[in-house]
Amino acid sequence: MISDRKLEHLLLCTHSDVEYHKKTGFKDVELVHKALPEVNQEEIDLSTSLLGKKMDSPIIITAITGGHPSSVEVNQKLARVAEKLNIGLGLGSQRAAVENPELASTYTIAREEAPEALLIGNIGAPQMEQAHEAGEMMDLDALAIHLNPLQEAIQPEGDVDTRGYLENIQKTVEEMNIPVIAKETGAGISGNDALSLEKAGVQAIDVAGAGGTSWAAVETYRSQDKTMGELYWDWGIPTAASTVEVSQSVQIPIISSGGIRNGLEAVKALALGADAVGMALPVLKASYLGEEALFKFFSRFLEEIKVAMFLVGAGNLKELQKTDLVIQGKTREWLQERGYNTKIYARRSSL
Ligand code: FNR
Repeated sequence: MISDRKLEHLLLCTHSDVEYHKKTGFKDVELVHKALPEVNQEEIDLSTSLLGKKMDSPIIITAITGGHPSSVEVNQKLARVAEKLNIGLGLGSQRAAVENPELASTYTIAREEAPEALLIGNIGAPQMEQAHEAGEMMDLDALAIHLNPLQEAIQPEGDVDTRGYLENIQKTVEEMNIPVIAKETGAGISGNDALSLEKAGVQAIDVAGAGGTSWAAVETYRSQDKTMGELYWDWGIPTAASTVEVSQSVQIPIISSGGIRNGLEAVKALALGADAVGMALPVLKASYLGEEALFKFFSRFLEEIKVAMFLVGAGNLKELQKTDLVIQGKTREWLQERGYNTKIYARRSSL
């Protein structure tokens, strides 16, 4: 049953090692320090707007849960923190409630607790025909269609005929009356795929790159035969490289996510061109420690962001996108081999 699987995912992700062994690549990205920052750290402005919604900080709690009675409490806590901090919140795949409407309250609790915050619904690409019902379940600001071919390929009951997905995404975008976000789930999005998605009309892309939660890892724990999951544990485009590929390929807003674990990594992602950053696993873990722990997690994260912005002399997010940074190591190799320009960031503040 989907509902049982949802609980299994929550438990596995909280108690087992489900993260990539390979890194996001943000360690290869170095922001150029300013000895004369010329900003007041206490006045740094993190506000932004995404998909027509004003936010106090460019942060999104990306899709985690719904569909099991135990997810009510998680979504309630996440929604309270999202509302209080005025950041974004993504729901887990709404498939469970489309197929069993009794489960709808495990998702709608989020809108009840977060009447104003940017709230993003979620449906899997294999279930795109359920997009309308997902969109109508509550007052959503956007719907994310998640792409998870890695998980589908590894899990025994996976959906591996993906022909026609792009066309269906285009149809869904045309038919929905809310913006559609295309979202990976941890294996990243290439510049080419991003371009196809932009042409299909999606209004934003969440790269959800490799380096954080690995769905091959999650499925390894669930399978009898562990060898396939172990072999593909580290499959995917590292988040830093995916963020650059997508930001150099499309004009629509970009959410950088997948393994972002502190405010410094968030600032690097934003400086590379992301409009917002997303996190799932660390937020889920903090939520289990209670609402206060969740607030503490985000206060710390926001402080970390401000320190990095101060040290590069960025008073707001627009200025951050012009800050100098150097891309080194494997991430530079990846991007240069793929034909992306890594030099444009190095001295852009003087242009
Ligand atoms: C997820 N993620 C996810 N994504 C999605 O689009 N729909 C979903 O239903 C879920 N479910 C889900 C459950 C749990 C327990 C986790 C940890 C994650 C993926 C998530 O939104 C995100 O893209 C990845 O987890 C990568 O980010 P992190 O976890 O490395 O910050």
